[in-house]
Amino acid sequence: MPLRRTAQRAAPRLLPACLAGAVLAGLLSCSGGSTPPAGAPGAGDRLFPAAGNGGYDVTHYGLDLSYDPVSGRLAGTAAITATAEADLSRFNLDLAGLTVSRVGVDGRTARVARSGTELTVRPARALRRGARFETTVAYAGVPRLLTDPDGSHEGWFRTDDGALALGEPVGSMAWFPGNDHPSDKASFDLTMSVPAGLTAVSNGDLAGTRTAAGRTAFHWHSTAPMATYLATVGIGHYTVTRSRTPGGVPLYVAVDPRSDDAQTAAALRRLPDIVDWESGLFGRYPFGSAGAVVDHLPAGRVGYALETQNRPVFPGDGDGPAVDVPTLVHELSHQWFGDSVTPSSWQDMWLNEGFATYATWMWQEQQDGVPLSRSAATAFADPAAWAFPPARPPTAADVSAQPVYDRGALVLYELHKALGDTAFAKLLRGWPAAHSHANASTADFTAYCAGLTSRDLAPLFATWLYGTAKPARL
Ligand code: TRP
Ligand code: ZN
Repeated sequence: MPLRRTAQRAAPRLLPACLAGAVLAGLLSCSGGSTPPAGAPGAGDRLFPAAGNGGYDVTHYGLDLSYDPVSGRLAGTAAITATAEADLSRFNLDLAGLTVSRVGVDGRTARVARSGTELTVRPARALRRGARFETTVAYAGVPRLLTDPDGSHEGWFRTDDGALALGEPVGSMAWFPGNDHPSDKASFDLTMSVPAGLTAVSNGDLAGTRTAAGRTAFHWHSTAPMATYLATVGIGHYTVTRSRTPGGVPLYVAVDPRSDDAQTAAALRRLPDIVDWESGLFGRYPFGSAGAVVDHLPAGRVGYALETQNRPVFPGDGDGPAVDVPTLVHELSHQWFGDSVTPSSWQDMWLNEGFATYATWMWQEQQDGVPLSRSAATAFADPAAWAFPPARPPTAADVSAQPVYDRGALVLYELHKALGDTAFAKLLRGWPAAHSHANASTADFTAYCAGLTSRDLAPLFATWLYGTAKPARL
């Protein structure tokens, strides 16, 4: 995958003493047949073939990191607990940039090789299928900002008071090694040490803070499994507000004071009601807490909000208010559609964006009196929505393109017409419940819908989900 390098220094491609060893041994074990096969360097994603890896399933990431905002250096250890899904003489992790000083598997030093964004680990002892194993990676460096095939930026953004990590689709590898594909979700513990006076905000719940020797370590714990692309950390000056929604969901909202404009403050005042309103439509809020992270970045640096788990990130990069209500509704709806029910592959991303777009249409109808039929008609009329079918983005550059959002939402609009109010309301609650804290594909979705009606939905899906031609009318 062509990730353009933005760091001045070239990353070390290989670690000392492992070049010939690991590569040659890997080749021999592949052709030999009697030794365990290596894990594949990708999870098999059609659009992002290098994303993720084969042969194991991560159950937990323990990230113990420290950050120096002056030098921009991140340093620490990732402890990755996984289960081998095959006999493995070696396996890969995704990591972009940074310098790896040591890799251990179950306490023994492993050999490692690097090539592009692939870190190949060869444990001292081959792993048996079904074995639970822990990989520790000690690493450090100035993390990179990555450029995606669509030209957008992700990974690690330096800010004037700290940093902000965003990882959709493949940016988590800029700040921790892992299995960077949505199909492999895991629980997380992140401990981030920062200079005292700064805050580190992340996903999950704040399990504790500890200040010693001029530094404060923030420990964030995510019990619910999380896809790597949803992991975030914001480091800097934030005003933190803790409260609860009227329905009882704990909130942790961190706002960079410089992005706290009047419209942002007004939008954030709606956050508790939005969480409860969405819970009424989509079922119980899927996580232990909710909230938002509002940061401050130079103009045009990020250009999008992101549905990071528990608390979406709003970059506040000078292009209007940092947060507006429709975007807040959109990102919070992703907590059900994307974060709890996570796409099996990147071509299933319309399951995220279609529902999130539709959620905003519902909000605008119920709160602002904008008929949903008008929002649908506007989307239908826009030629940009018809560039490709929502369930078939042609290339990696298309995952965040308009058809994924607007045609995705039109699929739901058509389903509402076909199913009627009662069955459609069941779909909105039942789909997130059926795959909560797991993964789902487009095929899972169409099968689920088929179970809600005696009507044949195949023509609807052929036209709206997979069809290239624009239908004559809505
Ligand atoms: N998925 C994000 C959302 O809809 C937006 C987003 C993330 C995005 N990365 C992007 C949009 C890259 C365009 C380009 O909430
Ligand atoms: Zn979205």
